[in-house]
Amino acid sequence: MSTIIVQGHPRRGMSDASRLVVLVVGGGGREHALCIALAASPSVSEVHVCPGNAGTRLLAQNHPISASDVSAVVELAKELGADLVVVGPEAPLVDGLADSLRSSGIACFGPDSENAMLEGSKLTAKSAMSEFGVPTADYLILDADSDIDSALSSYSESGDPWVVKRDVLAGGKGVVVTTDFEEARTAIEQAIESDGKVLLESFLPGEEASVLVLMDESGYVCLPASQDHKRLEEGDKGPNTGGMGAYAPAPVYTDEVRRKTIERIVEPMHIGLSKKDSPYRGVLYVGLMIDEDGDPYVVEFNVRFGDPECQITLPLIESDLAGHLLACAEGRLSSEHVEFRDSHCLTVVLAAEGYPGSVEKGRRITGDGLIVNSEEGQSSSWINHAGTAWKDGELVSSGGRVLSATGIANSLSEAAESAYSLIDKIQLEGAQFRRDIGHRAL
Ligand code: AMP
Ligand code: GLY
Repeated sequence: MSTIIVQGHPRRGMSDASRLVVLVVGGGGREHALCIALAASPSVSEVHVCPGNAGTRLLAQNHPISASDVSAVVELAKELGADLVVVGPEAPLVDGLADSLRSSGIACFGPDSENAMLEGSKLTAKSAMSEFGVPTADYLILDADSDIDSALSSYSESGDPWVVKRDVLAGGKGVVVTTDFEEARTAIEQAIESDGKVLLESFLPGEEASVLVLMDESGYVCLPASQDHKRLEEGDKGPNTGGMGAYAPAPVYTDEVRRKTIERIVEPMHIGLSKKDSPYRGVLYVGLMIDEDGDPYVVEFNVRFGDPECQITLPLIESDLAGHLLACAEGRLSSEHVEFRDSHCLTVVLAAEGYPGSVEKGRRITGDGLIVNSEEGQSSSWINHAGTAWKDGELVSSGGRVLSATGIANSLSEAAESAYSLIDKIQLEGAQFRRDIGHRAL
């Protein structure tokens, strides 16, 4: 198997004073991936993270501040003299973290609260798509005055499942796709009771892919498309999760699909968002459904890197990530030249017992490869920490998705082999992971 060096770039050619102090906000696998890439960047002198996890502590300085505490994060960024803040999760963006940082004169990679509503509200996303002519599923808005049974009946004439979407940030739990009439009705009733309204969307058949697009008013850069595995069990069965593994590039995203996605989705979104008083600066996660004719439709927008898509996309960027993210935060992305590796990357998530329900925490994690240090010159596989913590000198689990094993190689099958041989060396009582990540492409 060939070895591809993705970490541990020597830091040459820049004085400390001209290198960047970067603060990463968040504490999951996505943020560990950001810390790995930023710590390896020749243009970065210090990486800080709040709150971080047991893995980020080995590459960056952890600060015990919650990502959702907007004012404390802004204060920390000021104290550190941060040149760039990179925001991982969506909630602080919706709550105005980027707005506060920018008004304090600190560059932030992540959109302001108005643009973050593309994820914070499905209706806002639908209105933007309708305004900019972007293809997506038709929908109805139901509220307390609606006749739910007749709405469900009219949508089920085709025999397709019902798609019920809440209009609030619901941590990945706001969507129900079901062929069960009672389940659909219950989901609608509950959503109307808690939110006042709900979307009933037509079902889009096809295969999903995600495209992460770096975007500011000067331009955009599409990163290699990936595919996430949202279901808990092998064969894409069982309950939905935050993602049990992912790989990139996704072969369903052919050159032709790419061309259509840019022409019909990315370009119109970029033109529309760039006309606003406050343009979009950050990453736009475009969740696609690609039908059998290769026509792409938007299933969702997120205003952040996906997790675990981030873990397998960043290693495919060969050029300096910190420089690209800073340029994007400052509205000069079009002057950047982003280079990619001609490689394949795959990650397998190890989840705690009980996930995606309530989980057992504080269990000891042992095995090889748990220490990821950017100075080590890492190679074709490594561990991305997520729900991990140090307790009394031991590594323990502290969340649902505990870690993931990531492999990179010249082929997807080699990347999978690397990731699986690493995850097989990890011990955590009751842990669960899927053996079939990447199955559609292998
Ligand atoms: P969302 O949070 O909107 O991405 O929805 C979560 C998941 O539900 C998606 O990744 C799809 O698997 C599925 N989904 C959402 N909307 C649709 C749709 N209109 N048709 C088919 N599947 C959908
Ligand atoms: N893995 C899906 C997401 O980050 O939304």
